[in-house]
Parts: sequence; C-alpha cells; structure tokens
Amino acid sequence: MQLCVALDLEEKSQNIDLLKSLKGFPIWVKVGLRSYIRDGRDFIEEIKKIDLGFKIFLDLKLYDIPNTMADAALECAKLNIDMMTLHASSGKNAMMAVMERLGATSKPPLVFAVSALTSFDSQEFQSIYNAPLNDHIQTLAKMAFECNLDGAVCSVHESKYIKKATDPSFLTLTPGIRPFSENNDDQKRVADIDGAKEALSDFIVIGRPIYKATNPKEVVERILEKIK
Ligand code: C5P
Repeated sequence: MQLCVALDLEEKSQNIDLLKSLKGFPIWVKVGLRSYIRDGRDFIEEIKKIDLGFKIFLDLKLYDIPNTMADAALECAKLNIDMMTLHASSGKNAMMAVMERLGATSKPPLVFAVSALTSFDSQEFQSIYNAPLNDHIQTLAKMAFECNLDGAVCSVHESKYIKKATDPSFLTLTPGIRPFSENNDDQKRVADIDGAKEALSDFIVIGRPIYKATNPKEVVERILEKIK
C-alpha cells in the first residue's frame, strides 16, 4: 500500500514547504483542482525540479464528451505525470477514447476511474444516481476495468468488492482516510489505515490530517510506520 499526500494548501509556497519537509519519504504527491487551477503546469514542473523522487498524481477527475476527455488526457500525459483520474460515469466510450489516446504515448500515466466520491453517503448517492451505492460502484468499476483502466477510486469500504467484481490486479485508490481519529470534515465514507490494509487498498490518499497537523512530517512518519 502506498501513501499519496494531497497538496491542497492555500498557497503554492505552503505546498512547496510541505513537499520539502517530506524529503526522503517513499510517497506520492497529489496535485488536485485547487493547486492546478491556481498554479497550473508550472507547479508540476516545480515539483519535478525540486527532485525529491516523489511520483506525481494529477487528480483532475475528468468528465466530458469522449473527444474532449481524450484530448485532455493527452495533455495530462504530456505533463509527464505518473497517475491521473477521470469519472467512470463519463461512460465507456469516453474511457475507451482516453485509453486509446494514451496508448499511443510513450509513457502513459496510470488511469483511475472515480466511482463515487467519498463525500457521498448512500442516501446522497441514491438521490443523485437513483441506484444503491454498493451495486452501482461495482458496475462503474467493472466498466472501467473493461476499458482497461488501471484502477478505481473508491472508499475503503468498497475496495474488496471492486477487486472481487473485477480482478485482484485492478488497483484501488482510497481517499477518506482518517489515520488517527481526526475530524471527518466533509468525508462520509471514512476509514483508518488498518481498515485500508484489510481492504487491500493499493493507494491511500490523505490531505487534511497531514497538512493541517502541527507537524505534518511526524504524521507522515506515523502513517508510514502503520502501513508497513
Ligand atoms: O483532506 P482529505 O484527506 O479529505 O483529502 C482527500 C483528497 O482526496 C482531496 O484532495 C480530494 O479532492 C481527494 N478525493 C476525495 N474523494 C474522491 C477522490 C479524490 O476525497 N473520491
């Protein structure tokens, strides 16, 4: 299981300070909507220039028509990032178009399909998708698997079911992690590190419990110790 640290801070300089403080740890860093909209591709270039060996996960959760998705995915790949996301509910045609376009690149990133945001509980999910959360997540994950994506974004609670419905090699990436009983914030389907391990999560994503801590480095250390 690998740790992705979300770089969701208010200022680019704060993200850079956080990055530098985590030097030497075997982690991934996640650039999401806030940082990418504010700091753009320059931020990705800067992370690479600082050269701490962190793999880069660009979490833009693409959702559009197939041609636009494929074009956008190609632009992500040109940034030379290691992992990216799209929404499984954008459909099979869009996911296939993305994978076809990325397949023609020399070093395609891993592609993960968001099944259901971890901020949804089953009631909210039902009200949006008009389907039970657990069943529909498996349907979305199966669609992503059939389109040859690398894995699904889900909560810890669905990780095992997704692997069972697809294949053990189909990766799961689980946000909504609260390692040491921190506040859930806006996350609804949460779990701790032991839960993630038990659920066979391949990647865990953690933001606020790390970057809002008084000593983020110490929290990362404790998380990595638990992951072992
Ligand atoms: O601060 P927290 O640990 O809740 O952050 C989780 C991170 O994972 C955020 O950057 C959020 O955008 C991202 N994420 C998520 N749920 C998903 C996909 C991504 O929380 N389904």
